[in-house]
Amino acid sequence: MHPNAQRSSHATIDLFDKYVIPNYTRYPICLVQGEGSYIWDAEGNRYLDLFPGWGCNILGYSPPHLVRRVQDQLKHLIHVPNTWYTEAQGEFAEALCTRSFGKAFFCNSGTEANEGAIKLARLHGSASGRFRIISFEDSFHGRTYAAVTATAQPKYHEGIGPLVPGFDYAPRNDLDAVRKLCTHETAGILIEPVQGEGGVNIPHADFLAGLRKIADDTGALLIFDEVQTGMARLGTWFGYQQWNVQPDILTLAKGLAGGVPCGAIIATNEVSKSLKPGKHSSTFGGNPLAMTAGLATIETILQDRILENVERQSARFRTHFEKLKRELPIIREVRVRGMMIGIDLTIPGTPAVGMAMQRGVLINCTHNTVIRLLPALNITEAQVDEGAAVVSEVLRDLARQHHKAA
Ligand SMILES: Cc1ncc(COP(=O)(O)O)c(C=O)c1O
Repeated sequence: MHPNAQRSSHATIDLFDKYVIPNYTRYPICLVQGEGSYIWDAEGNRYLDLFPGWGCNILGYSPPHLVRRVQDQLKHLIHVPNTWYTEAQGEFAEALCTRSFGKAFFCNSGTEANEGAIKLARLHGSASGRFRIISFEDSFHGRTYAAVTATAQPKYHEGIGPLVPGFDYAPRNDLDAVRKLCTHETAGILIEPVQGEGGVNIPHADFLAGLRKIADDTGALLIFDEVQTGMARLGTWFGYQQWNVQPDILTLAKGLAGGVPCGAIIATNEVSKSLKPGKHSSTFGGNPLAMTAGLATIETILQDRILENVERQSARFRTHFEKLKRELPIIREVRVRGMMIGIDLTIPGTPAVGMAMQRGVLINCTHNTVIRLLPALNITEAQVDEGAAVVSEVLRDLARQHHKAA
């Protein structure tokens, strides 16, 4: 047993079976302790996590500076509603907006940030009759109603209709299709700069700039969902900076506060005027705990030169997996942008997740065929090599099994 465990994984699973709605597919271990990129289960087994917190734990588990700052904040103020001012919210907004643009609104999650961004785009366009939102095939924007409606994957819409009216879906990388859909009724064009759940899809070089031009030509707002790509994930503070294309509205969550729940909308000064008192709110949004965790995350990124580390380790992962691609015909494409890594297979990739777990490495598979890694941004060179070696072994085994079965 791990010293932090109160009971075996099996005993915790029994509790879940009795009392937790079984709406997630879970692997049969209970995690009890994390440190950096490693995590331990109740039985004391250690795993190298290449997908920590589904992309939320950008500094790994329990980063010491963040832990110290949050512990200190806990002693003073945990929650204060938005009827008052707090230093932490002002400081975190300053830290984000001076690295991006405009003004911030805080909430608690990615879907909530996107829901607010869609409302803001409609509020902004309401005087000129604009309400339609264009989003993209294979996107993922969250599970609340407007966000899931924007998520253009039929599997997420099954059984929950009717959806929110006024959404149009465009194919990826097709500017002509967007131009046709974009009318005088379009309030916003919503896109993830790099699609995450849809398969780590990196846009063609001029696609985001083309969307900026369509938005400018037609009067629609450009909205970037950077819930996954924001906060240094791609090697710049925000993903849009990689393409030098600034949106009118930016949404953030996941790693924003280093794993403490936090979401945000950043809007240009002009657009943010449309979010007037009474139009939108969030009880927990901008609470001092999350704001302090966000500040500590930015401080750590600066102190530990994390942006440079992302560039170095990203290149290292790429070298490992490009080499593997030359060896294994089951690898269709390796897609790497900063610490977003997708290995697209010609065969289903889900079995690789369990196989890697048995070898002590945690990974993800999305869109059926894409092995997805979202490593902590402070992962070390040795951990990259350790993780890439196990992923390579697993994919070799998967290829052998597939070959035998064929
Ligand atoms: C790009 C993107 N947008 C929105 C969301 C939804 O975020 P949350 O689960 O915090 O609501 C996700 C979650 O995976 C995401 O990857």
